[in-house]
Amino acid sequence: MAVRRLSESLSRTLMEDIHRCSLKKQTGVSLKYMMDFSGYPTGNNLLFSAQFLHKELPVRLAHRVIELENLPHRLSIKAPVLKVRDWYVDSFKDLRSFPEVLNSADELKFTELIHQIKIRHNNVVPTMAMGIQQLKEDLGRKMGLNELPEIHQFLDRFYMSRIGIRMLIGQHVALHQRRPPAGYIGLICTHVSPVEVAQNAIDDARSACMRTYGSAPEVHVYGDPSFKFAYVPTHLHQMIFELLKNSLRAVQELFMDADHDCPPIRVVVADGNEDVTIKISDEGGGIPRSGLSKIWTYLYTTAKSPLANGEQIQDTPNVMAGYGYGLPISRLYARYFGGDLQVISMEGYGTDAYLHLNRLGNVQEPLP
Ligand SMILES: Nc1ncnc2c1ncn2[C@@H]1O[C@H](COP(=O)(O)OP(=O)(O)OP(=O)(O)O)[C@@H](O)[C@H]1O
Ligand SMILES: [Mg+2]
Repeated sequence: MAVRRLSESLSRTLMEDIHRCSLKKQTGVSLKYMMDFSGYPTGNNLLFSAQFLHKELPVRLAHRVIELENLPHRLSIKAPVLKVRDWYVDSFKDLRSFPEVLNSADELKFTELIHQIKIRHNNVVPTMAMGIQQLKEDLGRKMGLNELPEIHQFLDRFYMSRIGIRMLIGQHVALHQRRPPAGYIGLICTHVSPVEVAQNAIDDARSACMRTYGSAPEVHVYGDPSFKFAYVPTHLHQMIFELLKNSLRAVQELFMDADHDCPPIRVVVADGNEDVTIKISDEGGGIPRSGLSKIWTYLYTTAKSPLANGEQIQDTPNVMAGYGYGLPISRLYARYFGGDLQVISMEGYGTDAYLHLNRLGNVQEPLP
């Protein structure tokens, strides 16, 4: 396939437009702002939100297009990366050719457009992962991404930006629901019970563990089930699910051949004034200190990578482990709303993961 730089394949006006937008500052919003603003989605609110997105989304996309064009180690010209870049360019074009949003009819059409854009970008993560995998193969198997900090930092920025774009689109689209579930403002639920979300994530992670190993360690939850706070339940589920899969795998592999029961994994939910913290503790043997920095890099895994066989990876992987994305992506989700994720290990014993979620939600989105 002939590699085409953007300047060869796009018109000069479009190219200039992308450059111009990429120089504009991105505008961040906070969880609190999203809730206050869209508590009662009147026609005017929807119109205002659409007008904001009509201006903001092209700016965010343009930042990414320029970055995707200028990656080190010739990553920009890998076929999967070009594919991702072209999705960003197509969405940029679609948004820029959409006329000003002036009334509710325009607003409906615009909502349909951004909904389609969100679908277009569904497979960005696995597609980028294929590009990174090809780079890894070029550079030799020995070199991990922790030796390529600029690629790692790019991926952190890129995926963080993606979380933000999808949150903004998802939120706007969800405000159009005729009968929103009780307590929901778009994608945000004003009273999420972390204990309940943890229970669901446990069921899902244990099922995945069962499918892979034929059995699954127990998981116990400690915390007040009636405690609730405002968050995006899908984000919370995803983070807890990823942490549990890691713990289940570690415990399962360590105790697979043992003749006694394996120690349960413990999930503790704490509600502080500032943070809601969820700790997931396992006795799965821990992570050696020398490996601790690597766990945050993309594509570092101690599982057999399905990517190495040239297999396509799925957006919602149905397997226990193997992509190396679980931890770094979960940390981005936590940071997106001002939280964080820490992993502390005692080699020879087990691992504790601390998921901190900012409670007030008035921290602005990070805008890479
Ligand atoms: N609780 C844990 N106990 C022991 N090792 C762990 C634990 N959590 C993570 N690790 C180590 O960190 C590595 C990276 O974890 P991460 O979740 O990012 O990727 P993965 O589990 O290998 O693949 P996936 O993308 O499917 O999650 C794991 O392969 C494992 O070696
Ligand atoms: Mg994992």
